[in-house]
Amino acid sequence: MPNPNERSDSAAPAILIFDSGVGGLTVFREVIAARADARFIYVADDAGFPYGNQPPDALIERILAVMGEAIDAHHPDLVVIACNTASTLALAELRKRYTVPFVGTVPAIKPACAQSNTKRIAVLGTKATVSLEYTRTLIREFASNCDVDLVGSPKLAGIAELELSGLPVADADIAAEIAPCFVDADGRKTDTVVLACTHYPLLTERFRKLAPWPVDWIDPAPAIARRVADLLRERPAATDKTPPCIVFTSGRVPPAPLAKALKGYGFSL
Ligand code: DGL
Repeated sequence: MPNPNERSDSAAPAILIFDSGVGGLTVFREVIAARADARFIYVADDAGFPYGNQPPDALIERILAVMGEAIDAHHPDLVVIACNTASTLALAELRKRYTVPFVGTVPAIKPACAQSNTKRIAVLGTKATVSLEYTRTLIREFASNCDVDLVGSPKLAGIAELELSGLPVADADIAAEIAPCFVDADGRKTDTVVLACTHYPLLTERFRKLAPWPVDWIDPAPAIARRVADLLRERPAATDKTPPCIVFTSGRVPPAPLAKALKGYGFSL
C-alpha cells in the first residue's frame, strides 16, 4: 500500500476504522469531523466481542486475522485501531506486517497526569487493557509524579453496547463500575479519569451524573483525529462524497434502535 502522502490522485482517502463493537464510533465521529471527504469503512468485530475479558494470546491471533481480512478486502490508505485493547495488544505486530499507516488508541496517561492538579488519576479500561505491560510502561514513563489507580471494568463496554441498542442499563450498575476510580487518600482526591476504552465516551453523561465528585474525563478521540488529519495532510480534499459503511463480523442486521443510531452517525445501512 503506498504512503498516502506520496499519492497524487484526487480520490478520497480510504480510512478503515476498527473496534470490537460500537465503541469505535466515539473515535469515528471525531475523525470524520476532521476529514469529512474520506471514504470510511468501519469494521466491528462483534463476533469476537468483548475483547477486554479474553486471554491475550487468543485475542492477538483474532485481531491479526480480522485486520488481515479487512485490509485485503478494503485496501485502506490508513487504519485507525479505535480500540485500546486491540491497540495495546497488537499494534506493534500490525505495523510489522503491513505498510499501511496505523493510528492506534492507547490510554491517555501522559496528558491526564500533566493536567491533574491533585496528581491522583484513574485509568478506566477493560480488564485486559489495564493489566497489559503496555499500559504499565506508559505509567512508568509518564506518571512518575502521579498516583495512578488502574480500574479494569468487566461490564462497561457491554453496557455501552446495550445502551446504544436501545436497552437502558440501571444507574446502579454503571455507578458500581466507576466507583473504584474515585480515591480520596492522603488529602488528595482523584481529579482526572482516563477513558481507556473507546466504548466509555458513549457513557460520559451518565458518568458525570453518577460520579461522587466532579472529575475530568479524558477522551483521546480528538487527539487521534488530529493525528489522522496530519498523516493525510498531503492528500487533497476529494469532492466526491461516499457515505461511510459499517461491517459487523457476525453478519448481523443491527436492531432498529442501533440502526437508527448508526444512521445518525451518517452510515448507510
Ligand atoms: N472498545 C474496546 C477498547 O477500547 C474494548 C471493548 C471490548 O471489551 O471488546 O478497549
